[in-house]
Amino acid sequence: MNTQSPKHRCLIADKMHESIVPMLQEIGLQPDYQPSIQREEILGIIENYTGLVIRSKTNVDQALIAKAVNLRFVARAGAGLDQLDEQALNARHIAILNAPEGNRDALAEHNVGMLLTLMHKIHTGNRQIREGTWDREGNRGTELMGKTIGIVGYGNMGQAFAHRLTGFSVKVLAYDKYRQNYGDRFAQQAAMEQLYEESDVLSFHVPLTAETLFFVDDSYLSRFSKNIFLLNTARGKIIKLKTLAEALTIGKVQGAALDVLENEKLNQLSEEQQRYFQELIQSDKVIFTPHVAGWTHESYEKINRVLVDKIKALKLV
Ligand code: 3PG
Repeated sequence: MNTQSPKHRCLIADKMHESIVPMLQEIGLQPDYQPSIQREEILGIIENYTGLVIRSKTNVDQALIAKAVNLRFVARAGAGLDQLDEQALNARHIAILNAPEGNRDALAEHNVGMLLTLMHKIHTGNRQIREGTWDREGNRGTELMGKTIGIVGYGNMGQAFAHRLTGFSVKVLAYDKYRQNYGDRFAQQAAMEQLYEESDVLSFHVPLTAETLFFVDDSYLSRFSKNIFLLNTARGKIIKLKTLAEALTIGKVQGAALDVLENEKLNQLSEEQQRYFQELIQSDKVIFTPHVAGWTHESYEKINRVLVDKIKALKLV
């Protein structure tokens, strides 16, 4: 076997746990680890590669695909495929691989942590004590026990979250537009109408697509019977900062935990985004984390294992 052959070369175009290099070598590929490579450089050399391994930095669009004449797979070290033109890749029969199995457990734990933080006001108590305030009544919490959790999107992330809710004595309803017979021992399959009717907490686990872009709008939120706690660890662009800020003002959303934002480049917010972002950061009803729900020491390596196993299964070598 000639692993030096250009047809087995694999460009790693983003920062990944270093284990990716020996793992790819082990399955007979020749990895080229270039975490700082920029788009123009990728366009210049991509014709030499069979594989492209990316995270969210690299847009795999038609321009790149046109130059990738020898490409057999794109491996996304993570879950989200929103940077990929899936249609164009499919048309060229280039395999698309991702690794949600590698970061779903991290995400699920993080989501539980955010939900408990929000409902038990851990964030405000923690901050106030540091400021010298000991306020017990102001930090009285709300119990998760007995509540109904609505999960929108029951793939890897939604399922892992439902699994972690075992033990909290909650009712878990899952809605997934693209799956059938998916109810399991962790969640009951439900129509969206039932989630509107019963949810106390709503957690999103959908990919970002043309269909989910800003799908959570005023009209969507107004359909819920109760005032809900909203969790978003999926993609920021499913809900505008404006929609969220306004829903918090009227009380339809009584608390929000956000790992992702409509615009995560905080120094590049539009005027409107800036205005509503300021409202949100001033509110104790909102907690934030910087897109780290799936980002643990463990998931950093697990993602590589999952991805390399999927690359191996392509049987290129
Ligand atoms: C994912 O899709 O796996 C997460 O959003 C993390 O993506 P990242 O590779 O940009 O960290």
